[in-house]
Amino acid sequence: MADPVKLTIDGRPIEAAPGTLVIDAAKAAGIEIPAFCYYEGLTLQAACRMCLVEVEKMPKLMTACTLPVAQGMVVRTDTPQVHSARKYMLEFLLTNHPLDCPVCDKGGECELQDMTFRYGAGESRYADEKVHVPEKQYSPVVFFDAPRCILCYRCVRICNEGLGVGALGVINRGVFSEIAPNRGDHLECDECGACIDICPVGALTSGAYRYQTRPWEMTHVGAICTHCADGCKTTLGTRNGRILRGNNRDRSGVNGEFVCIKGRYGFDFYDHPERLHAPLARVNGKLEEVSWAEALGIVAKKFQDTLAAGGSFGVIGSNHTTNEENYYLQRFARQVLKSNNIDHHRTGDVAALLSKLAGGAPSGPACPTSGKAEGLAGESACPTIARLATVSDLYQRKAILILGADLALEHPLLSFQIRANYRHHQARIYAVTPGPVREDKYAAASIRAATPADCFAALEHLRDKLRAEPELVVLFDDSFQGADIARLVDFGESLGIPVQYVCLLDYSNSHGAMDMGLAPEFLPGYQPSGQPGLRLNEMLEANLDVLWVVGANPGDGRDVSEMQTGDGRTVPNGVIRNCPRFVVVQDMFLTETAQRADVVLPAACAYEKNGTVTNVTGEVQALQRAVDAMGAKTDLEIFGFLAREMGVAAELGPWTPAAVFEEIRSRVPGYDLPWPAIAAGGAVQTSAVSGPISSTQGAPARSDHNGLFASGTLGRYSRVLNSVLEGRVAR
Ligand code: SF4
Ligand code: SF4
Ligand code: SF4
Ligand code: FES
Repeated sequence: MADPVKLTIDGRPIEAAPGTLVIDAAKAAGIEIPAFCYYEGLTLQAACRMCLVEVEKMPKLMTACTLPVAQGMVVRTDTPQVHSARKYMLEFLLTNHPLDCPVCDKGGECELQDMTFRYGAGESRYADEKVHVPEKQYSPVVFFDAPRCILCYRCVRICNEGLGVGALGVINRGVFSEIAPNRGDHLECDECGACIDICPVGALTSGAYRYQTRPWEMTHVGAICTHCADGCKTTLGTRNGRILRGNNRDRSGVNGEFVCIKGRYGFDFYDHPERLHAPLARVNGKLEEVSWAEALGIVAKKFQDTLAAGGSFGVIGSNHTTNEENYYLQRFARQVLKSNNIDHHRTGDVAALLSKLAGGAPSGPACPTSGKAEGLAGESACPTIARLATVSDLYQRKAILILGADLALEHPLLSFQIRANYRHHQARIYAVTPGPVREDKYAAASIRAATPADCFAALEHLRDKLRAEPELVVLFDDSFQGADIARLVDFGESLGIPVQYVCLLDYSNSHGAMDMGLAPEFLPGYQPSGQPGLRLNEMLEANLDVLWVVGANPGDGRDVSEMQTGDGRTVPNGVIRNCPRFVVVQDMFLTETAQRADVVLPAACAYEKNGTVTNVTGEVQALQRAVDAMGAKTDLEIFGFLAREMGVAAELGPWTPAAVFEEIRSRVPGYDLPWPAIAAGGAVQTSAVSGPISSTQGAPARSDHNGLFASGTLGRYSRVLNSVLEGRVAR
């Protein structure tokens, strides 16, 4: 590493790496230089002149945001000349500013307001009439108020560089300059709201949040987005029991500041008018509201009677519910209902990847630290380079290979990380996908391949290039399953470089559902279940006595293709071929599956419960309850109350998230994770396997390939996702 550069800032000796900007060197030393246009990670703009500093031997003030440190440089940030420069720059920025802070959404967290308080003049000398331009609406979620804009270009750059969309630009000149959308009078873009977040003033505001509250009136709760498997931390602003805003401005979590439209706005399903607030039971063929005691009593009796009669059960779990709920549910199914008929809608074959990585003799090069061949993180593996990539690895590793998925639409955070890696570290990106993808713009190679066979042919074509890379992360979607995944790992091993993998999955806890044993063939931690029960699709076609569906909607037609009629009752979307005699559904809404249930138990959503989830890269994070569920209960509570009603609660143990997580820590391989780190908002990666997996012959995996504006059944209940033009077009 090159020798550090020595300089002084405000009389303090400082060392910084060559190339460091003065603004960053000062920040690292705890010296704040005010800035508007400068933004870490984006290209330099030098538009606002707020960061002017004195530099010895320089004839005039310099912009600290564009000035690299130099040996012996003497910088002063706190002199009368610097202060007056800041004051005059603010006066200039405010000449046309409406100063409507009392009604501006940004008030209280506005950088212009803060700087004006700190450095600005109490009075303006500007006496002319201000140029007024009416506010414009660029989309249902993006509003623009031109007079508030200070032309820092942050929005333009985050959209172009960060998102790779480039939907914003500047039109006109001078005082008439305006940020303009890509379609003349409206936006067609990802609708992610990153431009709103990054705007230092209230020029860009959110259609979902504007005029609802002031920032200081909200409680801020760190939740995990429930829509896709990437696991973005979403800080929810709540007030009076309502969620009003989603963002992640404190940069905690695996995603830093990034959230896509679903993380920022898609929480709004939680108070959809069709939300269930009371249990329903079928009376004379119709679902009617009943009390919790009555509903639990009906279900408990049915379960007990069926058990006593030696009847059959099927349990379908969820890839949205928490690890604790999934773990408890599979225990309930196996211990109480004596059934291995338990599964969920699988969206990627993560078991096949873990099996191959755990079972195959590591053949990669020796780990530079341990001297061992590189393998899975765990006892026998290299401690420095896990074979499963983290979200952070996608930003750090030198080369990335994408197989199958359109990441920008299906895994927005992973796509964002890879794009940032390319911009900041010049990572080489290889895209082998069925159709054009956003990564094509900067990929070292893009190849169109529709099937795994085409992909393997493309990989052979790329072999020499990949072999020349120092390291590689491979992401693959559900087009790779079973033996194809083993073959893919063999290909990776044959490159002779460290290779990490990401098996792409759809939902917030798809990974956790597998890890916790929501599978007929696996107990938690992929241990063999002994007598594998029915898979999801088999349960839907079997003539079971009881079907218990938790947070899933197999009735929407994804899991079996044909329409069918049951035992005489109307079946809305026809997938449960041989209608079970008794169906219990736990859900937020009266889904197609719930409509044909005998008892429906209203369930809390991810933002109304505590617990943990495991994202697509196997990183475990904590959910925190942001608001209380009206009339609904968490799935874990429902299991617990049901167990109590059946007299088996003692057998299953306490049903609090903390108690179940403790049990998971002690029983599930790979999950003995440090709770304080997770509770504090950290993400801790797990591999959940301790050795070769004996069988991976499970249900086939089918990704729903949700785009940016869809989210399985849940997406139907998000007002914002349904309001944006792009979502309507995508449908
Ligand atoms: S919402 Fe996102 S994609 Fe649309 S203009 Fe803003 S930053 Fe760009
Ligand atoms: S709209 Fe906001 S982020 Fe964009 S240039 Fe204006 S002040 Fe900067
Ligand atoms: S990338 Fe996925 S997890 Fe992140 S905010 Fe979007 S939908 Fe949520
Ligand atoms: S922050 Fe340096 S010119 Fe804007």
